Amino acid sequence: MAREFSTVGVVGLGTMGAGIVEVFARNGIDVLAVEISESALERGRATLTSSTDRAVAKGKLAEADRDALHERVRFAVGLDALHSVDLVIEAVPEHLDLKQRIFAELDRVCRPDTILATNTSSLSVTEISVATTRPNQVIGIHFFNPAPVMKLVEVVRTVVTSPEVVADVEALCARLGKVDVTINDRAGFIANALLFGYLNHAVGMFESHYATREDIDAAMKLGCGLPMGPLALMDLIGLDTAYEILDTMYRRGGRDRRHAPVPLLKQMVTAGLLGRKSGRGFYTYQRPGSPVVVPDEATPPATEAALADGARAIAKVGVVGSGTMATGIIEVFAKAGYEVVSVTRGAEKSAAVCEAVKTSLNKGVVRGKLAEADRDAALGRISWSATLDHLADVDLVVEAVVEELSVKKALFASLDEICKPGVVLATTTSSLPVIDVAMATQRPADVVGLHFFNPAPVMPLVEVVRTIRTSPEATATARAVCAALGKTGVVCGDRSGFIVNALLFPYLNDAVKMLEASYSTADDIDHAMKLGCGYPMGPFELLDVVGLDVSLAIQRELYLELREPGFAPAPLLEHLVTAGYLGRKTRRGFRDHSHR
Ligand SMILES: NC(=O)c1ccc[n+]([C@@H]2O[C@H](COP(=O)([O-])OP(=O)(O)OC[C@H]3O[C@@H](n4cnc5c(N)ncnc54)[C@H](O)[C@@H]3O)[C@@H](O)[C@H]2O)c1
Repeated sequence: MAREFSTVGVVGLGTMGAGIVEVFARNGIDVLAVEISESALERGRATLTSSTDRAVAKGKLAEADRDALHERVRFAVGLDALHSVDLVIEAVPEHLDLKQRIFAELDRVCRPDTILATNTSSLSVTEISVATTRPNQVIGIHFFNPAPVMKLVEVVRTVVTSPEVVADVEALCARLGKVDVTINDRAGFIANALLFGYLNHAVGMFESHYATREDIDAAMKLGCGLPMGPLALMDLIGLDTAYEILDTMYRRGGRDRRHAPVPLLKQMVTAGLLGRKSGRGFYTYQRPGSPVVVPDEATPPATEAALADGARAIAKVGVVGSGTMATGIIEVFAKAGYEVVSVTRGAEKSAAVCEAVKTSLNKGVVRGKLAEADRDAALGRISWSATLDHLADVDLVVEAVVEELSVKKALFASLDEICKPGVVLATTTSSLPVIDVAMATQRPADVVGLHFFNPAPVMPLVEVVRTIRTSPEATATARAVCAALGKTGVVCGDRSGFIVNALLFPYLNDAVKMLEASYSTADDIDHAMKLGCGYPMGPFELLDVVGLDVSLAIQRELYLELREPGFAPAPLLEHLVTAGYLGRKTRRGFRDHSHR
């Protein structure tokens, strides 16, 4: 029989604590909410009230249930009030000495059978537990932000946590409607160990002006389907908390440089820019605690006119290549009303691409997404050619041929001879330096990267890559074209992986390393990222879809260019590729897909 928890105490009512109070009270458990001062208590109460009011306004909570929820919560200043609760969850700032002090005090105040839990993200639960005389009753219960929304709870057992306590807490999580993964005490547990290197890397990109905050966030949302971009997430977490988590992970997690907090973070924390809770972090919010972003001096002008500023007029577009990407890109431009010249290496290839474009457009008609007349008009706008000479009068060329530098360079040299002056020449390369391609022409200022995602007709993101020689006009033109295609164009520098792959693949590689270290299972790691961070797929699901060979190649490129030791490909990934386990395409990768 699992133990009954009828009253729990929550210590610290900040970003996490207030949400944790709500989770318990919503599920019929009485809560004693404790803060350090009356003013902090008031702030916590206000957070709880506005969160439950929002839930009522959204129709997710009945008014009567909200009122009952509030009746279950009592508030107090100081830990003494917790003398008769069954369980305490501590959610004070991420400092070991503070948490140890609080646990020593809780140990003194609480009943001998009370379970003492910490919501720490990165500190050692074991080190916290030894501040008490009951380390076997100390456990980590790591909720995710926002606690009422995110389904995952990481239950962290130390080497001395009693198995009954673990079982009782697991049963409690089920009662709260949460999914738990139970793991050992290691810095960052599952989710944060995989998340924070990525978040810190994104802050580094922002700090070095590699891309704007809006573009970094849009890239990860639209390119990976994440619920929010990394900088918006940092603001939600709180930059002070994020700083402490990174700093602890750096020290506890083997001094991986990727966890050394980017200097900008410390500066922002010192300046009081803590994210949503202080009303300003990477973005500016309506007021402290508000989720509503308001424009500030860094907000880019959103109008069409501003996008088109300096952009050249584009009416006719050449697309070179006959693979998946070229086919998708031809369709995208034709549907958006551009005249398209498709150039392949021969009539047969042109016929095949033509068929593929027709099939795809027909699918749109069958699904009711495209009118027959629009399909016919789109097809009517495409002309098919097997010679580059037909690109003499286009305004933009998009190259999507094989991913080999020598082939691309030769092609760009030819385009340079054939195309009229002022044309924007774009490459869709996902891994080669755009500047290498640009320097094969006499007009590097007109060369950009236009990195479409697969499938191009569906994916809403395009990375616009500007090299150190790209002119502002060519960048503006590329951006305006993306907008006219109904896509979001994000501008970034010419570095390996651009934005999305540079941020995504090291995280996937880290997940492989975690599996390799037997810290957790592929299923639990996938669960943790989906339910704790709202990712549409877990890392192993995604690796099997993308292909392990493709992932390894990208990771190798990143490692070779940046020489970051943490980017070295996971040996397990290399072995699986060598063994021919490439993912869904070979019916076996991290998982066996032969029966599906
Ligand atoms: N922010 C997140 O996204 C997130 C997610 C999961 C876990 N966590 C963890 O949760 C814990 C709390 O983080 P947070 O982001 O909510 O911090 P926060 O700064 O938003 O809130 C901390 C609260 O603790 C209160 N406090 C400080 N000293 C206290 C004391 N002696 N007694 C009672 N209350 C005290 C503060 O007044 C404040 O309200 C940390 O361990 C953090 O790592 C944070």
